[in-house]
Amino acid sequence: MKNVYLIGFMGSGKSTIAYQMQKRFHLKRIEMDDRIVKKAGMPISEIFTTQGEPAFRQMETALLKKISYSSDHVVSCGGGVVLKLENVRLMKRSGRVVLLKASPQVILERVSRNNKRPVLEGKKNLKDITEMMEARRPAYEDAADLTIDIDGKTPEEIADELYLRVMTE
Ligand code: S3P
Repeated sequence: MKNVYLIGFMGSGKSTIAYQMQKRFHLKRIEMDDRIVKKAGMPISEIFTTQGEPAFRQMETALLKKISYSSDHVVSCGGGVVLKLENVRLMKRSGRVVLLKASPQVILERVSRNNKRPVLEGKKNLKDITEMMEARRPAYEDAADLTIDIDGKTPEEIADELYLRVMTE
């Protein structure tokens, strides 16, 4: 099987679903943010402050290039991966791209729990989150081979739906 790339806004559950896919269907899991943090030796917020967002985006593309040579992986992508066309091409060439779609209310509730996301600093309110999601929506939708609505579903239900649809669509 080719790779399965999970994309979606921050807090849409990409990491949780990747974990479920690994556990239930024995796929190999890659957590992009964790790989970048490990390699850089510092948290994402520090990469942003010391090296800037463009440097972080370059690290994402370099990692995706490597991943695109592999197969049988479920990849939990950073929420901003779709912002570069090159990234989208790399994913599409090497797997299926699955968009996890949530409502702004659900996203706000989830992202409010931690301070690890520099692009959301000072924006953890419904208006800003809705605006940012709306601005990114075309990029997510263009990149996606298939979309799964996640509101009101358990991680197990989402993983089952994903597996079934990736296998049959
Ligand atoms: C980002 C999403 C984050 C992380 C970085 C930037 C974004 O990943 O890559 O903070 O621009 O959407 P998660 O979607 O896993 O939170």
